[in-house]
Amino acid sequence: MTDRKGLILAGGTGSRLWPITQGISKQLMPVYDKPMIYYPLSVLMLAGIRDIGIITTPADQAQFRHLLGDGSQWGLRLTWLVQPSPDGLAQAYLVAEDYLAGAPSAMVLGDNIFFGHGLPEMLACADARTAGGTVFGYRVADPERYGVVGMDADGTVTQIVEKPAVPPSSYAVTGLYFLDGTAPARARSIAPSTRGELEITTLLETYLDDGSLTVERMGRGYAWLDTGTHGSLLDAGNFVRTLQSRQGMQTGCPEEIAYLQGWIDEDALGALAHRYAKTDYGTYLSGLQGTRGT
Ligand code: DAU
Repeated sequence: MTDRKGLILAGGTGSRLWPITQGISKQLMPVYDKPMIYYPLSVLMLAGIRDIGIITTPADQAQFRHLLGDGSQWGLRLTWLVQPSPDGLAQAYLVAEDYLAGAPSAMVLGDNIFFGHGLPEMLACADARTAGGTVFGYRVADPERYGVVGMDADGTVTQIVEKPAVPPSSYAVTGLYFLDGTAPARARSIAPSTRGELEITTLLETYLDDGSLTVERMGRGYAWLDTGTHGSLLDAGNFVRTLQSRQGMQTGCPEEIAYLQGWIDEDALGALAHRYAKTDYGTYLSGLQGTRGT
């Protein structure tokens, strides 16, 4: 475990999900039984990260704070940051520059959902690389909707392109970025794209040019789910529901991860279970009591 800080980028207009996201932030929308942001938050927690900055729009921050508070209920330290307007993913590093104070970071997009056996180990490897950056490539049927990696015949990554009309491969770059402490300075040095945004792919290219970018492939045993359209949001909810009903286990449950990581004790877990006593979620939390280390 390093001194890496977490970032969740949860701003944006959510315009692709209008009208439902006109009155509420996209990342607060339900994905089956939990708010969307629980899933990316859980990924950072699985990486062992407890110090997390959450970036929201100015208008939405109050609702996020109402939901997550200061994070102490889960043994976290949450810092609230504001992105005044959605000028690109790489701008997050400028917004978070003072908060990061030179530390390496793991940034996850607030609408990205990951699931898969071995995820904590994959995250630990990325965390251990304190110099340079690590991103994750995932094979998708529609790469033109994402940042895409281009590779040479040996599989070495040679380029990263944002939403290419003709994708150089089927590997999209997921919304999870482990970058070293130079990310804010690099973000300051890049120019906005033709659509006027500081693109994350342009920032990643600076690491690629230095030879300091590692692209890990997330294999087919992982699920990386999209919540970008009404249909994919519903699919993500159905995926979580199917998995949870079959396994009788939660995915994306911050209480469970905090408990298993030893960040909250039995009493704290009991109090959280009590709070949700009227729901299956609460019943699940009660069932966890006394199971740590078993
Ligand atoms: O999901 C992975 C993809 O995310 C990557 O493959 C792409 O390289 C990356 O550019 C991004 O593509 P999207 O088209 O999904 O980006 P979008 O504009 O939808 O923003 C992603 C999330 O970040 C969304 O929930 C809103 C939030 N956001 C976006 C922007 C531009 C912000 O919070 N602030 C912003 O300035």
